[in-house]
Amino acid sequence: MAGSLKYADIYNESITDPAAFWGKAAEEIQWVKKWDKVLDDSRKPFYGWFVGGELNTCYNALDYHVENGRGNQAAIIYDSPMTNTVLKITYNELLDQVARFAGVLKDMGVKKGDTVIIYMPMIPQALTAVLACARLGAVHSVVFGGFAPNELAIRINDAQPDVIISASCGIEGKKVIPYKPLLDEAIKLAEHKPQKTVIYQRSQLAADLIAGRDYNWDEVMKTAKKADCVTVKATDPLYILYTSGTTGKPKGVMRDNGGYAVALKWSMKYIYDVKPGEVFWAASDVGWVVGHSYIIYAPLLYGCTTIVYEGKPIGTPDPGAFWRVIAQHGVSVLFTAPTAFRAIKKEDPNADYLKKYDIKTLKYLFLAGERLDPDTYHWASGMLKIPVVDHWWQTETGWPIAANCMGIEPFPIKAGSPTKAVPGYNVEILDNNGKKIPNGQEGAVSIKLPLPPGCLPTLWKDDKRYLEYVTEIPGYYVTGDGGFFDQDGYLFIMGRIDDVINVAGHRLSTGAMEEIIAKHKDIAECAVFGMNEKLKGEVPVGFAVLKAGVNRNPDEIVKELVQMVRNDIGAVACFKQCAIVKALPKTRSGKTLRSTMRKIVNQQQYVVPSTIEDASVLDVIKDAAKKLAAEA
Ligand code: COA
Ligand code: AMP
Repeated sequence: MAGSLKYADIYNESITDPAAFWGKAAEEIQWVKKWDKVLDDSRKPFYGWFVGGELNTCYNALDYHVENGRGNQAAIIYDSPMTNTVLKITYNELLDQVARFAGVLKDMGVKKGDTVIIYMPMIPQALTAVLACARLGAVHSVVFGGFAPNELAIRINDAQPDVIISASCGIEGKKVIPYKPLLDEAIKLAEHKPQKTVIYQRSQLAADLIAGRDYNWDEVMKTAKKADCVTVKATDPLYILYTSGTTGKPKGVMRDNGGYAVALKWSMKYIYDVKPGEVFWAASDVGWVVGHSYIIYAPLLYGCTTIVYEGKPIGTPDPGAFWRVIAQHGVSVLFTAPTAFRAIKKEDPNADYLKKYDIKTLKYLFLAGERLDPDTYHWASGMLKIPVVDHWWQTETGWPIAANCMGIEPFPIKAGSPTKAVPGYNVEILDNNGKKIPNGQEGAVSIKLPLPPGCLPTLWKDDKRYLEYVTEIPGYYVTGDGGFFDQDGYLFIMGRIDDVINVAGHRLSTGAMEEIIAKHKDIAECAVFGMNEKLKGEVPVGFAVLKAGVNRNPDEIVKELVQMVRNDIGAVACFKQCAIVKALPKTRSGKTLRSTMRKIVNQQQYVVPSTIEDASVLDVIKDAAKKLAAEA
């Protein structure tokens, strides 16, 4: 297919007549009832895709393939190097398990529209749980296993689930992480109390179960009756995925059923250039959007085999882990975050481990989650000698906004650029007044409404907060990223222009960290920023001002702050550094000069704002930032 299609034709059609474009794409999905209208724009800036349509996403991901001859193909290959496990689960087997687990949930009273939280490690049961919810039309909310009880409690309060599904433990690198105590603690902290939990007991560590509340997965599955697919509206919610905003309250990105299925299936062919039956590996986690879209839904909707890898790029056991998985399972496409490749490069700069494996099946490496720095791009493409494709997207969009679409018309790659807007996304660079900026100049990367199918129709029970995305510049969705188009129309994403940061491909909120630090009894105020770092892309660093009269050892206080962030958000926040300073730079009206501080932290040029109250404070911050960078 690649080579015969013209990107410009496809892209233009998607923008000038989105209803015709996506109506055609939707023919690939099995509908219980076809839509009345492809695109409903009667409630701008809220849009609906495939309005009047009815389907079941789980049916499309499993039953359909079993009915059409794919039953004996592996749906999942579970590869867990530290537990020495490789397990193939066919579409037949997965359908059987999902239908039975849906029966378990149904028996517990879960029905269409109910919410279920899933807090699980990278094991196949996580996919079973997700798909069982989809089968019943229940709304799942997967919470990343690396989040601490406090973060889980925040999500329990917001999603209000009656049932939570979890496991006794996760394997994180070489560590065994007990999940159940974290879940118990979260339920204790949460105001909303779920009625029941289902716990998958792993052989590495058994969890204590509370009678009457906690149910053992294996036990309840033994007697489960299979449940059928429940038909839902295309616009009904499939899931909620909480993601970091600029405050401590995460945003519950809502995903619908119909538009998501259509967009994901389309993306497998036209962006990833993969074929049904091939092995697709997204080396991420089910707790992130990449996991939702490209470990679970897209590969299964498209009839691929998906890999559930419970390991790391390095240390499980060595930097050849990815090559081993590709060779052993015949992976066609690998999708991961640049940080994984930086980690491999650091441990195996000459790619000696690669020489031990035959990875000829690998056609493409796709990278996303953070900026792909040119060094890592050159290293990966020089070593693998296949297209290394940077693509840009967000939890909110659910699938790529910009990419080099390998199934349409592959363009020459420019290091540092995710190439061009994906069909469906009308990307423009705007200035502060919402005016279009000429190519070559940096501004706010924005998407002209409507967003294509698959993107967030709104935030979970929070239309008001959703409106913040689409009313700042009327008619546009503001992505929060800064960037520019070059003279050839290639898009460059230069980083967030708000207080969201990306640490090792994990999206985190500096605002959330500030709220935690501010709770310390000795802290008057603080600010946290992302500081560029070689391996993880960014790491958070803090600047804290002590309350008047506090005379304690600053190192002790910093240790306490680090521990507080670790306890409240999780180790994944990687908050390890904080400077105690005499003041934060402010304007005369008392606003912290955050963008100036952000520039100082990353040693960028800055202009001293004319509104500054005391310019000497900037020197204090500069010195402190230099020290933090040297210690990192
Ligand atoms: N459960 C519990 N703890 C977790 C966790 C999980 N699922 N994931 C991470 N953590 C912990 C780690 O154990 C570590 O704890 P520590 O401070 O006690 O050592 C901490 O969170 C930081 O983890 P991480 O950022 O992953 O750093 P690392 O040094 O362990 O590994 C990389 C670095 C680059 C190898 C790793 O981050 C990686 O593989 N990144 C790929 C990113 C990715 O898949 N992103 C998803 C979007 S595509
Ligand atoms: P998340 O919602 O976790 O997927 O994080 C989304 C954010 O990650 C984006 O807003 C970007 O800041 C960043 N990001 C993701 N992919 C890329 C990419 N290919 N290039 C640059 N930044 C990226």
